[in-house]
Amino acid sequence: MARAGSIVKKASKASDSKLKAVVDMIIEDVRPSKKEIEGAIAVSNSISSRIKKLMPKGAELVIVGSMARGTQVKGSYDVDMFLLYPRSFDEKKMENGTIEIAKKIIDRKKGETFTVKYAQHPYARINVNGMNADIVPAYKIGNALERGTAVDRTPLHNAFILSHLTERQKDEVRVLKAFLKAHRIYGAEVSIEGFSGYLCELLIHTYGSFEALLRSVASARLPWVLDPKESAMVEPHSDAAAALVKKFSKEIVVIDPTDSNRNVAAALSLESFSRFILASRMLLDRPTKDAFYGEGYSDAYPERALSALIKSLDCELYTLEFGLADIANDIKWQQLKRLDRSIRILMKKSGFEPLIALQDMEDSIGVIAYLVNRHYNGTRAIEGPSVFLKGAAEKFADAHSKSYKYLDGERIMALEKPEHSNVHSLLESIRRSNEISKLSHVRVKEAKLFFGTEMPEECARLVHRSFVKKTTLRI
Ligand code: CTP
Ligand code: MG
Repeated sequence: MARAGSIVKKASKASDSKLKAVVDMIIEDVRPSKKEIEGAIAVSNSISSRIKKLMPKGAELVIVGSMARGTQVKGSYDVDMFLLYPRSFDEKKMENGTIEIAKKIIDRKKGETFTVKYAQHPYARINVNGMNADIVPAYKIGNALERGTAVDRTPLHNAFILSHLTERQKDEVRVLKAFLKAHRIYGAEVSIEGFSGYLCELLIHTYGSFEALLRSVASARLPWVLDPKESAMVEPHSDAAAALVKKFSKEIVVIDPTDSNRNVAAALSLESFSRFILASRMLLDRPTKDAFYGEGYSDAYPERALSALIKSLDCELYTLEFGLADIANDIKWQQLKRLDRSIRILMKKSGFEPLIALQDMEDSIGVIAYLVNRHYNGTRAIEGPSVFLKGAAEKFADAHSKSYKYLDGERIMALEKPEHSNVHSLLESIRRSNEISKLSHVRVKEAKLFFGTEMPEECARLVHRSFVKKTTLRI
């Protein structure tokens, strides 16, 4: 990474303010009590001793994640345990072995449960005494270059955070997590595309405090490039920032201090970051506890709410409901989002651009819904190439042989009525088409199409929930 000292700006420091008083109050809400911590340690000790009796020679058990770092939010965290194997161990053997151990150590008579989970790599989740513990196999490495699996860096993250955060900063991480949760942008999962716990820790380390972070984010510019190792922000217009944007193909980059080839903000969407910008400005403007938590929303009477929405906007609502396979949420969400993007491309091609697209899922059902203008019939002018591109205009004319063609300046245009002259017919044909059924985990073939609010209660609840989540911007 080419980076000169002059283009790196030290992150700004916080000033004393009303916000500090709010932060102090929130800390009291989010810091787990001594009793809670002791309870979690007892659970993790009990699991550790059971694992240690069964783990192979040469393996080592470590506690990582927010519990080990003291950045967990009261009542909402898990125990993250890593079973570290020597680098020479066979990967499959290490994965299966870890899952087998996790399965053996639970006591079903006490209501303890076991499930196999998959992120980029399989791990086990057990529930002991009402607490979730993830037991993750990984290689023991000294630096990121030795990495074998996607999660091997985690103990390195632990070491970095433990040696760089003060006790006050750990509390400020908790505050940041709670704030992001209130805005539904905490978590790197596909359904949220927000801030991971490790990203929160690096942000507090880089800026020094929650308040300093908010002040910077409130007037952030793209590209937003941070180098936590230097506690610094890379000047947006510098060559160094441009090189990093290119390297990670992303305008938001937070370089992992334990691995300069990893962007810790890779899963953060521009939309979630934008939400954070608005939320930061709002809290700086109104530093109160109420503003920090915002209002919740009610999902009672979803049909009534949707009906009022359709009426007030004078538009139409179309909902597709899909069955979902029993696999990892991240994969289901990825496919649902991909499906939504393909449908929107087809809608756009037919001249029906939705006003807003909604997606949500729960357990085995997923919904994609569109609010569209009532009066469209899809007839549109398609923009073709410039006549100066020899051959291209002729090719376009061939492809649109049946339509009326004209010139708009140098451009050839085609006036066309689409194959589907209303959204219902288009979505119905999509529902029946094989083209998008390639997504194996979304059961497109069994999809149902609903118009307006005539849909099952569960489906209406998901559509309404997605609408409220999307349109609840606290500005
Ligand atoms: N981790 C990672 N990459 C991921 C997910 C997790 O490197 N995609 C690592 C991080 O070092 C993280 C740890 O695994 O800190 C545990 O993950 P998780 O429990 O999701 O995050 P926490 O930091 O423990 O945050 P929380 O308080 O929400 O549990
Ligand atoms: Mg955790």
